[in-house]
Amino acid sequence: PEEKPRIIERIKHLLKERDAVLVAHYYVHPDIQDLAQETGGTVSDSLEMARFGHAHSGKTVVVAGVRFMGETAKILNPEKKVLMPDLNAECSLDLATPIDEFSKFCDAHPDRVVVVYANTSAAVKARADWMVTSSIAEKIVAHLHAQGKKILWAPDKHLGDYVQRVTGADMLMWNAACVVHDEFKAVQLEELKLLHPGAKVLVHPESPKAVIDLADAVGSTTGIIQAAERMKAKEYIVATDGGIIHQMRKRMPGVTFIEAPTAGKGATCQSCAHCPWMAMNGLHNLLAVLENPNPKNEVHVDPEIGRRARIPIERMLEFAK
Ligand code: 13P
Ligand code: SF4
Repeated sequence: PEEKPRIIERIKHLLKERDAVLVAHYYVHPDIQDLAQETGGTVSDSLEMARFGHAHSGKTVVVAGVRFMGETAKILNPEKKVLMPDLNAECSLDLATPIDEFSKFCDAHPDRVVVVYANTSAAVKARADWMVTSSIAEKIVAHLHAQGKKILWAPDKHLGDYVQRVTGADMLMWNAACVVHDEFKAVQLEELKLLHPGAKVLVHPESPKAVIDLADAVGSTTGIIQAAERMKAKEYIVATDGGIIHQMRKRMPGVTFIEAPTAGKGATCQSCAHCPWMAMNGLHNLLAVLENPNPKNEVHVDPEIGRRARIPIERMLEFAK
């Protein structure tokens, strides 16, 4: 532990020396979130991570998150070096959507516009018409629905169901879930609400419907933080990865944030939900990747797949403007 300040200083120095910017997700360790903010990088949701890495002038983008986030950065910035502390940081949604099966699913429904969540491989994105993140899925699907389009949606079934309920769009769903958010349970959440009757409930839409039904606000990670800032309650129950609470406490000092309970952990659990792949990002491997950029930490996307995958991502970024 006493060497932590030394590691942090060394990382700061190397980021400068290598003209590199650190782009982190809210679910990574608080130390890495702080480092990103203190060094001119960002900590944000998937949409903002993509935008930020794209707009930044640095020659190298270091992505502290999971692989699809690194791939998105590479697809948008093929000329830049994109590094990740651990390329084995997967996502259960990405893993549940192999390109061969997904392609067959698309081929079987040529009348549908293919909309995929950011949490997918570059190859899956290359097969899509649109890519969306949780912060913009609802708006893009509503836009397509208004044009009379039928949608093929993949991979997150809970987010898909939520967007379907809100927009009324005709959506054919792939069947996959986030292993972290799927564990939030309504029964335990109701028990926790009884213990904190004044608390407002904030829910990420990758959670099951019964949990979303108990929400005072539903949103992406950034959306959840903004909702709390708007609602100005004294107490919140947060149903997403607990990593986000670090940012919420920083931005809203004096406010109480309680983690929503997950299956089998009881109503008052601690460290209830944490993505095992986000947890692969640590100070030691972040330092190692900067000290000794190793090919095994560099994100590569096949150029032809990258060229095709860029189209649905840019469509989303253009729509989001
Ligand atoms: P956000 O875009 O809301 O940050 O979601 C990313 C993610 O992986 C949530 O589990
Ligand atoms: Fe994927 Fe869930 Fe982890 Fe997000 S929290 S990266 S959706 S497994």
